[in-house]
Amino acid sequence: MTEPAGTPPRKKLLIRTWGCQMNVYDSARMADVLAPLGYAPTEDAAEADMVVLNTCHIREKASEKVFSDLGRLRDTKQRRAAAGKDTVIAVAGCVAQAEGAEITARAPWVDMVLGPQTYHRLPEMVARLSRAAGQVIETDFPAEAKFDHLPEASAPQGPIAFLTVQEGCDKFCSFCVVPYTRGAEFSRPAAAVIAEARRLAGQGAREIALLGQNVNAYHGEGPDGRVWGLRRLLRALAEIPGVARLRYSTSHPRDMDDDLIAAHGEIPALLPFMHLPVQTGSDRMLRAMNRGHDAALFRRIVDRLRAVRPDMALSSDFIIGHPGESLRDFEDTMALVRDTGFALAYSFKYSARPGTPAAGLPGQVPEAEKDARLQALQALLREQQQAFNADCVGRDCDVLITGPGRYPGQLAGRSPWLQPVHLFGNEFLPGDIVRVRLSAALTNSLSATLAHQEPAPA
Ligand code: 5AD
Ligand code: SF4
Repeated sequence: MTEPAGTPPRKKLLIRTWGCQMNVYDSARMADVLAPLGYAPTEDAAEADMVVLNTCHIREKASEKVFSDLGRLRDTKQRRAAAGKDTVIAVAGCVAQAEGAEITARAPWVDMVLGPQTYHRLPEMVARLSRAAGQVIETDFPAEAKFDHLPEASAPQGPIAFLTVQEGCDKFCSFCVVPYTRGAEFSRPAAAVIAEARRLAGQGAREIALLGQNVNAYHGEGPDGRVWGLRRLLRALAEIPGVARLRYSTSHPRDMDDDLIAAHGEIPALLPFMHLPVQTGSDRMLRAMNRGHDAALFRRIVDRLRAVRPDMALSSDFIIGHPGESLRDFEDTMALVRDTGFALAYSFKYSARPGTPAAGLPGQVPEAEKDARLQALQALLREQQQAFNADCVGRDCDVLITGPGRYPGQLAGRSPWLQPVHLFGNEFLPGDIVRVRLSAALTNSLSATLAHQEPAPA
């Protein structure tokens, strides 16, 4: 049978199940979570790209049967390897749980051993394994890419330009499709980034926003042959004539190290604005999300950023209603928001993405509950955004003019905290950076007067 064009090559999955109904159920779940990675069932070990032995400890001699099955599978794996085909062998279930170390010692051709609590991480384990073997994972993830996008970097870009410096992600958050759809983390060589930034500056860009799914994990090859982190790259970009403002998005708390934080105190072009998704304020949920940090780390980063750059504005992403989220977890999120004070934030109801580990977790939160929590969070975030904007009134700052405003004689621009700003002044052009005094906060923007002018009487 021929595959329709554009369909990823199917892989075959053989699951052998021993024991109780629970194991039968678990095998079905494993097949479900692997289907989006392109695995279709087979009964034939010789054609299986992946074999899972789902074992049972209770039955007498069960583990000896598993070992003799594994012996036959070694031969199958060798025959397939001779024909240029890989075979992933996994042992799951209670035997795996009890005898994991023995399995890897006695049968080193086994690629993964997983206890019953780790099935939801199967997609991650398979993806990591195929990356380690230098393969690209072909996914059947739904084409809709709601949570898998970076802002469009379309040309020509004008005074604010976007420049992708990093792609992909190795973090495997429980809810997220990016590690599967975008593949492994990759950083562009610094020389290529610098060349593109020069080109953008030559075309009139004054502000450059560096993009990447994990931009602060940037570790590109430097022109000096060394690996450059983001701080080094930012320093080089700040020296390009015409580049007056720099920022980067999206960052992960785990990669926000002291070195990069220091950059915010020493590079004047770096804008005092940081988008740093935390997702939740609950340590329990951060663990369930596989985020690799706790709420305390996020709080420490915010404190240190504000220590080196006191006017730093914070932005974040939140997910409400991840599987297992209790009211108490939600309250931890509210507390973190209250303590931090965000200038801007994006909050989402958790939505199960087929093939991601969280989609198979128990404790899915009812829709009505998610709605109620999201509304409460968004009300608080809106309040904070308004408070932040109100607090800006009276400040003097540099605004980057981006184009004409809505009314004749009016100009539109961006503050250093990325707020849209409106001002009157005919003498300026897009790309100019103008010293202003912020004079009033509207719902989604601020108005400003030239710093040397008095505001018009009301
Ligand atoms: N459900 C809800 N929000 C999600 N995000 C990513 N995946 C999901 C999901 N399955 C959100 C995260 C991320 C932002 C880009 O989208 O908050 O930071
Ligand atoms: Fe997705 Fe970001 Fe987590 Fe990577 S770090 S898995 S892109 S949410």
